[in-house]
Formats: sequence, C-alpha cells, structure tokens
Amino acid sequence: MTKVTYDLPDGSTEHVDVEPGETLMNAALRNNLPGIVAECGGSCACATCHVHLPKQYTRFFAEPTDEETDLIAYLDAADDDSRLSCQLVVADSEAEIHVRVADSR
Ligand code: FES
Repeated sequence: MTKVTYDLPDGSTEHVDVEPGETLMNAALRNNLPGIVAECGGSCACATCHVHLPKQYTRFFAEPTDEETDLIAYLDAADDDSRLSCQLVVADSEAEIHVRVADSR
C-alpha cells in the first residue's frame, strides 16, 4: 500500500492509502478530493487531472508518454514537474508520495 499525500488547491492536505494498480486520479476521486475533475475519465484526453509531482517521486511511476507530454504542454499552469494523475499508476510498494494538485476546475 502506497501512502499518498495530496496538497489541495484550497490549501488543505489529505492522506490517502492507494492500492497497487490504482491511479492517483482514481484515488483522489474515490476520496472526493477537490481540484481533480477528470472529465475524460482517465483516458489522457482532457488534462483536468493535473498534478505537480516533485522529482524525488518520479521513480515510482512510468515516464510520461508522448500523449501525456503533449497535453501538459497546453496547460497554462504547467511546470517541469507537471503530470496527469490519470497516468500515474501506483506500483506495489510501501512508498510515501507527495503531490500538489493543480486546480482543474
Ligand atoms: S482524466 Fe483526463 S487526462 Fe487525466
């Protein structure tokens, strides 16, 4: 079980236990966390699941696909650490991960 801390757009913080195979987007929706809209349902087509993933946590996830990188390029709030949370699949680990949720509303 991976422990994920979400820094939310309203300034609050939430901690969520995420099962292997679940995306950070799905875990956020499952817990009704604000900021992640996920309009396309996780098919890498909307970018309303934007998060900032600090460099020290990138090793826990696959590299972004060209499709994800292209979508992020169109975001005004994009930064070097931007990822789409629907593409961040949690592996089977005891990792503790911290992400900052961009406000996608
Ligand atoms: S939910 Fe649409 S791109 Fe992630």
